Amino acid sequence: MDDITKRITDIHERIKTALDISKTERELEQARLNFLTRNAGLAQLLAQLKEFSAEQKRIIGPLLNNVRDQVFSLYEERKKQIQNERHAREQKRSELFDVTAYQPGVSYGSLHPYTIVGQKIEDVFTSMGYTIADGPELEDEWHNFDALNVPAHHPARDMQDTLWLTLPQKLMRTHTSNVQIRVMQERKPPLAVISSGRAYRYEATDATHDYMFMQTEALLVAENISVANLLATIKVLLQAIFDRSDLNIRVRPSYFPFVEPGMEVDMQCVFCTDGCSVCKYTKFIEMAGVGMVHPNVLTACGLDPKKYNGFAFGFGLTRLVMLRYGINDIRLLSSGNLEFLTQF
Ligand code: DAH
Repeated sequence: MDDITKRITDIHERIKTALDISKTERELEQARLNFLTRNAGLAQLLAQLKEFSAEQKRIIGPLLNNVRDQVFSLYEERKKQIQNERHAREQKRSELFDVTAYQPGVSYGSLHPYTIVGQKIEDVFTSMGYTIADGPELEDEWHNFDALNVPAHHPARDMQDTLWLTLPQKLMRTHTSNVQIRVMQERKPPLAVISSGRAYRYEATDATHDYMFMQTEALLVAENISVANLLATIKVLLQAIFDRSDLNIRVRPSYFPFVEPGMEVDMQCVFCTDGCSVCKYTKFIEMAGVGMVHPNVLTACGLDPKKYNGFAFGFGLTRLVMLRYGINDIRLLSSGNLEFLTQF
């Protein structure tokens, strides 16, 4: 008799523990299968009841029934509890759900090649004491042409196909040389500035032409400036950009209305030593228009050309970037194409 009551208390304890430690619906189900089904421990004890005498049954019967009622209600209670906990968790998760948090793979931003080369140029110039200037892209005729010694009806206006606006005398600047004028109007020499930005031309677009491209302009105005200063500056710049201290330049006479003398600077080809398709088998690559600031330009800006002189040069930042990275289609640069951009 003692033996059977002990077995009943034992099994009661074991079932309670099993239900208590079940944390998930799956664990609870496993506890039910272990203890509460027909073949499980409790049912077997109940089945043995018929083997006992009537008197024993009177004691064991209610005991067993009581245990059975207790464990089944404990089971139901535990089940509800676990379900409630799960619902609460789901509820919380759905409240925290943020559609904007979806990230298909992590992607890092990268600098545009214009930014990379532009920063390098700024580093070189600021290390030489230059400051950085900016000017408008929507410009007036005077700053883009007249003040730069290109009066109306002068044939030099045809050198640059212009995007005129319907606003009177307004245009999209054809070069960054307009910044020279704005800087000289605002500041007194000595002045040394560079400016990079967009320029616009009325052009059909193909792999090497775009109606919008980037230029960099440099201007130095002081006293007793020489062509030697100009050439040394541009040489240092190109050597720094292409990371080659032995890089040579060559100079050819050329015409730009805003400089006198005007020249074009070619850089030794960085892709070959004895001719290739990039340098068109000339071993040199055209890099920049350069020259000594024309006295008429200084005068237009209110500076005395007898006192001051200086140099200016302008080059295609777009072209430089394309050369530097071997980019063969200019349109990629403003395409926003991520496959292209993430390479840098
Ligand atoms: N503005 C000229 C162009 O777009 C480039 C240029 C040539 C700029 C000579 C200069 C210069 O400052 O001195 O073609």
